Amino acid sequence: MLNQGLTYMASSKTKAVNAKPSDSGEDFPPFPHKHLLGISQLNQYDIINLLDRAQSMAPISRQPRKTLPTLSGKTQINLFFENSTRTQASFEIAGKRLGALVLNMSVKTSSVSKGETLIDTATNLNAMQPDVIVVRHGSAGAVELLSQKVGCSVINAGDGTHEHPTQALLDALTIRRHKNRLAGLTVAICGDIANSRVARSNLLLLGALNVRTRVIAPQTLLPAGIEKLCTEVYTNMEEGLAGADVVMMLRLQRERAGEIMTPSIREYYRFYGLDAQKFAHAKPDAIVMHPGPMNRGVEIDPAIADGPASVITDQVEMGVAVRMAVLDALIDNGEQSHE
Ligand code: NCD
Repeated sequence: MLNQGLTYMASSKTKAVNAKPSDSGEDFPPFPHKHLLGISQLNQYDIINLLDRAQSMAPISRQPRKTLPTLSGKTQINLFFENSTRTQASFEIAGKRLGALVLNMSVKTSSVSKGETLIDTATNLNAMQPDVIVVRHGSAGAVELLSQKVGCSVINAGDGTHEHPTQALLDALTIRRHKNRLAGLTVAICGDIANSRVARSNLLLLGALNVRTRVIAPQTLLPAGIEKLCTEVYTNMEEGLAGADVVMMLRLQRERAGEIMTPSIREYYRFYGLDAQKFAHAKPDAIVMHPGPMNRGVEIDPAIADGPASVITDQVEMGVAVRMAVLDALIDNGEQSHE
């Protein structure tokens, strides 16, 4: 069990004997995994290792010159089978800021649209000897399958309703920077829990760090067995938000049947949309988060999304830092295992 003190002390506690100095001068233990497929594969020390690495990467994006030579000579392929703006751009910027050669492949322009199978695509990309492939796919498990067919590291950038590990890491880093801690906080995740890989990865991560988690959704948007993944389940926003430190709103996943599980958008907004009246039940210093893309007037009032409690653009900024950290940790790990 991870207590608050341990969370604070995590970076010193997890330092290993063969830790390697980072470009920021800090040293971190090697990351003990070849791929990042989901938060479920990580323990609390792995998570804190990545958060601490990301914390040290964050200032780089604020420097006048933002590139490091860390991954120079390395090749990163971004393979996106689902639409994405921010996640793909974030991985691209992260790789480029570390000096990697980054190739973006979207399915619309690839041979997958000519009927090539996922495995054939993976085999062909593998033959080009990349060091890391970042994959987003509409089916749960597809990224793990692909990881078994290639020789390089694979990062899951979202697979169906399963996991989105870098989103959960960037959310945790954003919370830790705003609240100076994670343990002891109450995080309320609200909306389309049933169809959300973001909710799943966040609940796994926060659970591993002993953060108190609540999910709030209409009964139809709560998946079976959700009580095993979180501390408390609510169907009423006011009750669920009472005393929360962090309010994380989720998009209604229209493409994954989220919309048809609610009577109407107006009704949904009335009961589950975050507006000032509902937000007033959270702690006075609570922060508001959203992974994006946001549907204003569906799950969130624009006044809240753009208001003083919103940390939504900080999440996007931390996304680059987290992806830099993950790319560095995996590629670094690959090099050490070849030595
Ligand atoms: C999320 C995703 O794709 O899972 N967005 C993101 O990564 N920026 C959440 C969503 O699509 O609602």
